[in-house]
Amino acid sequence: MTRKKMLFPFLLLISILMTACSASSSGVEGPEFDKAQTEFIQELSVENIFSSLSELTKNPRVAGTSSEMQAAAFLTAQLKSEGYEVEVQPFDFERYVIPESHGLVVEGFPGPLSPAPFQYSVDGNVDGQLIDAGYGLKKDYKKIDVKGKIALVAVDKTAFYELVLFASEAGAKAILLYFPDELEIDNWTLGREHFKDFIPALALTYDEGTKLVEFVKNGTPVSAAVKIKGARIDKAASQNLIATKHPTSETDDDIILIGAHYDSVDKAPGASDNASGTAVVLELARMFKTVPTNKEIRFLFFGAEEEGLHGSEKYVSTLTKDEIKRSAAMFNLDMVGSADAGDLAIQTIDGSDNVVTKAASKANEALNGDPIETDFGDRSDHTPFHNAGIDAALFIYDPVEEWYHTPEDTIEKLSKARLVNVAKIVGTSIFELTFSGTTKE
Ligand code: BES
Ligand code: ZN
Repeated sequence: MTRKKMLFPFLLLISILMTACSASSSGVEGPEFDKAQTEFIQELSVENIFSSLSELTKNPRVAGTSSEMQAAAFLTAQLKSEGYEVEVQPFDFERYVIPESHGLVVEGFPGPLSPAPFQYSVDGNVDGQLIDAGYGLKKDYKKIDVKGKIALVAVDKTAFYELVLFASEAGAKAILLYFPDELEIDNWTLGREHFKDFIPALALTYDEGTKLVEFVKNGTPVSAAVKIKGARIDKAASQNLIATKHPTSETDDDIILIGAHYDSVDKAPGASDNASGTAVVLELARMFKTVPTNKEIRFLFFGAEEEGLHGSEKYVSTLTKDEIKRSAAMFNLDMVGSADAGDLAIQTIDGSDNVVTKAASKANEALNGDPIETDFGDRSDHTPFHNAGIDAALFIYDPVEEWYHTPEDTIEKLSKARLVNVAKIVGTSIFELTFSGTTKE
């Protein structure tokens, strides 16, 4: 046999092997696959999404309340009716209870005062001499003795919680923070992290603060009383829901995760935040139930996101090392339908691309003609997944609408086209991924 003759079958074998390898790493392609994908996307029903939305937005779904539980019951029933077994994962979390009342009395001060409480302020019923503590910085307390007194502090550039901690360390019994004119005093938070070290804190307007400064300048000590009643941290119970689609053919080990938080803030129907993401994930679960897929897909519904990502943290904490290793991608849908928000953004914790963003950008290019650039964003449930080493990204229309976290977050303000757009992008991405080769080594 000549050298040439021996070489030919060898080259043929190499070329067959290369074709096989590239098919398994870049995904199954070709007309059959395209047809299956098109049929899959055609299954998408915006009516289904809206029927879930109208059910979910009947009441606010505040974490740890019966209305959050009712939303969980609705989702469970829907998933079961699609043929899923649903795992309910209960968990406890700590929740701040806002004060039932608050007040401030300054002896002899003419004119009204209308203090506002802060989220995470501790409660208390204290009185003492009211004292001007300047900007309330550590250096101010070297000159001004606030021990056992009530400190009056002008807010400048320092964080509120730090001002409260400085006054507390200097021995003050309570603190009144008056705001620069341009800052509205409404709904401010001190953050929960230092709760145990706080003293009672109330906010005043610039006008009230400066008048009080003048008032205490007169020489005779002025006494004041601060009362904050009923503020505390409580234990509450919530739950995650997990519906799993097992692989149907050519099994590989990867898991694809897709999730949304279904709780809302108080007084808000939470249509955009986040009945929108919940309804889209539910619809995708329905669509995927009947198509063959090579990978496991887990549909996750998180409770208590609004109180601090508790649901997603709980879920990630229960994953085994092996499950984490097998988790190839996590798609988090939060605020995916507002007609009045900015463009669709894909956000990751480090702002860089990963399996999720690449798949979604490719899907967007196919569906809408352009890739999507990845942004930074850490304000939702993809965070614990990223921290565990799982490729994760948030899908959100950004910047968010003006009525975010208000009673105006209603179903009428959602856009069908925007919901469908995200459902298609995420659905296509997952469809592609479940047929691509193993993404994890
Ligand atoms: N849906 C929002 C996330 C969001 C809001 C992202 C605005 C980007 C812009 C989410 O439900 C939320 O409100 N998150 C909280 C943090 C959470 C840990 C309490 C937030 O961002 O304030
Ligand atoms: Zn929110």
